[in-house]
Amino acid sequence: MFKFKKMLSLAAACVLGAALLTGCGGQEGASSSSGAKTLKVGSSIDFAPFEFQDETQKEYQGFDMDLIRAIGKEMGREVEIQNLGFDGLIPALQGGNIDVAISGMTINEDRKANVLFSEPYYESGLTIIVRDNNADIKTFQDLKGKKVAVQIGTTSANEVHKLEGVEVKELNTPPDCFMELKASGVDAVVNDKPVNDYYITKSGATGVKALPEKLTAEEYGIAIAKDNKALQDEINAAFKKVKDSGEYDKIYKKWFGEAGK
Ligand code: ARG
Repeated sequence: MFKFKKMLSLAAACVLGAALLTGCGGQEGASSSSGAKTLKVGSSIDFAPFEFQDETQKEYQGFDMDLIRAIGKEMGREVEIQNLGFDGLIPALQGGNIDVAISGMTINEDRKANVLFSEPYYESGLTIIVRDNNADIKTFQDLKGKKVAVQIGTTSANEVHKLEGVEVKELNTPPDCFMELKASGVDAVVNDKPVNDYYITKSGATGVKALPEKLTAEEYGIAIAKDNKALQDEINAAFKKVKDSGEYDKIYKKWFGEAGK
């Protein structure tokens, strides 16, 4: 029924578009208005410089946003981005509400049980942020007996729970964690290094510092529903083109100021 309706509307689009387009059913996705299927993307828009909302701009901004738009362009598909809670991304993939999730998501075995991942697109890891005047937290071991804020559903939450004697506060977003730190509701925040660095250097945060120790080595990947191997192949092929064309390096430079690997 759904398919039938879709065919009908496609046929209608053909008739309507006939005056403008040379034909329907030709090259798939040559243009979004010719009926190319929209790529539904989920992201937790709270993770500058990967995904964030700049109040002066309508579109979501960031490295992931530029990357998925470039990938969508290679695929000939219009990209539509939905802002979802980070812990809601995998359920949204499983429920078929989105086609892919790009959200600084670390590729790991636990998640691989539930979703497929693209090739890795960014190397990351976790660091600690404390208030400037904090002298007793220098390493992850020093978090023992301390209150630590992390974003719910993240690798930071997992790692901090593994450390003994830490009081973990799981909050909805990294900005919530930073606010909690500034308000002295916690002693430290554990979060992804590039996001912590951006918070300190680019967003003009004062009174806080990021510590140099990196707890983990992680790689980000685009997540795809477990049963959609075809889409995984398509995403990987498009990602390769984005890298080969130099577009990936351009996006990397725009957000991190140096060439990507
Ligand atoms: N890399 C971490 C993870 O995969 C954190 C990602 C958080 N992403 C976000 N958009 N808030 O668990």
